[in-house]
Amino acid sequence: MNDREPIGVIGAGWVGLVTAACFSELGHDVYVRDILQEKIDSLSRGEVPIYEPGLSEMLGRNSERLHYTLEMADLLPNAELLFCCVDTPPSYSGDADLSRVNRVVEEVGGSTDHALVMKSTVPVGTGRSIRRTANGAIGYVSNPEFLKEGSAVNDFMNPDRVVVGFEDSDDGFGERVAALYEPLDAPIVHTDVASAEMIKLASNAFLATKISFINEIANVSEELGANVDEVARGMGLDARIGPQFLRAGLGYGGSCFPKDVSALKQLAGNTGYHFQLLTSVIEVNELQKRRAIGKLQKHLGSLVGKEIALLGVAFKPNTDDIREATSLVLAGRLQSEGAHVRVYDPIASGRAGSLLGGARVAESALDAIDGADAVVLVTEWPEFRELDWEGDVKQKLRSPLVVDGRNFLDRELLTRAGYTYEGVGR
Ligand SMILES: NC(=O)c1ccc[n+]([C@@H]2O[C@H](COP(=O)([O-])OP(=O)(O)OC[C@H]3O[C@@H](n4cnc5c(N)ncnc54)[C@H](O)[C@@H]3O)[C@@H](O)[C@H]2O)c1
Repeated sequence: MNDREPIGVIGAGWVGLVTAACFSELGHDVYVRDILQEKIDSLSRGEVPIYEPGLSEMLGRNSERLHYTLEMADLLPNAELLFCCVDTPPSYSGDADLSRVNRVVEEVGGSTDHALVMKSTVPVGTGRSIRRTANGAIGYVSNPEFLKEGSAVNDFMNPDRVVVGFEDSDDGFGERVAALYEPLDAPIVHTDVASAEMIKLASNAFLATKISFINEIANVSEELGANVDEVARGMGLDARIGPQFLRAGLGYGGSCFPKDVSALKQLAGNTGYHFQLLTSVIEVNELQKRRAIGKLQKHLGSLVGKEIALLGVAFKPNTDDIREATSLVLAGRLQSEGAHVRVYDPIASGRAGSLLGGARVAESALDAIDGADAVVLVTEWPEFRELDWEGDVKQKLRSPLVVDGRNFLDRELLTRAGYTYEGVGR
């Protein structure tokens, strides 16, 4: 098999489209299937339905190698390695909802020529159960994805490692998947399927733990007079700890960490093991999202009738993904406290719709700020730091109160300009 073998991608979301773009960039023909007509139509017109830096350009320059379809039947004759990139959202129980993955397994059917390459994040044991159901009629490789939205294309092309989990009996599919990544010059970790599945969940749970840990240090620092930014810098220089994911803030959100941490906790619980540490990580994160409310109340008293501007809706900058975003929790809490909420995000406000309750979606940051009693910085978009805080912003605010939920703004400048500034652990 040559190293430019055609591949199939099932699910044209963040992971699927980045996978398709990057493999086409590496010279492969890629057959992309989604079930949403409007998605396939817009991709076929050259329009990319999500915002991800560099993605649209990469899909555009490789358009001759990319084929979009609604039909699984268009993939099967053209590609043997089928990358499953469908969503695995949380169910009410906290377990991962595998209905979309199961549907893909049914649709692919039994063919010893094909292998399902699982990029979706799935519970440990999923591969084993799919193999058992298919009774060896289809190959199975676990190939979890570690990209981060906002830098997904770069992460895919320059991974810290590629994990490929397969069983000895898999007819060489695992090696074929590993070979696709050889041009990337990254360490390739070969494991069994269950271990590959666990590497993904454990990695996300560990990163979430780092975030909840530094948030607790921040909360204690506020009481004891330490500055968490300095603390994190001093800790992060220790090579055993490392600087990443040590930024205090309003907690983690997004489409992965909350659901994956919860899925691992449930998975452990299903085996009879109570994962105490993850229970606390989740609880700390939930409480952290609400701490901004207490800071507003400290200065404004009751929030009934108060006008509060939220800057940022996306769960982090450089994406328009709002799944499990802190902004949604804050908007809901503020409105139930009786406040009037206005929100602004450079690209993501349009996606939020009814999830923001009755919050007003503003045209610009200044429009959101106009007449507000306080500003809460929720997402660290660079343009929010560039606002004219000493001039325009100050004039438009009814009272100069800023809750900087990401320790992102220039505290000294704001304090000098007469603002009441509340950061996190500063
Ligand atoms: N987004 C991330 O940052 C990220 C990173 C690593 C791993 N993951 C994991 O990757 C998976 C996909 O995540 P995402 O963010 O790309 O999801 P997404 O919701 O953006 O995309 C999923 C796509 O799959 C499509 N789909 C559903 N059922 C289908 C079917 N039967 N056939 C074809 N298409 C189908 C949906 O219409 C949708 O377009 C999840 O398991 C997620 O946990 C996501």
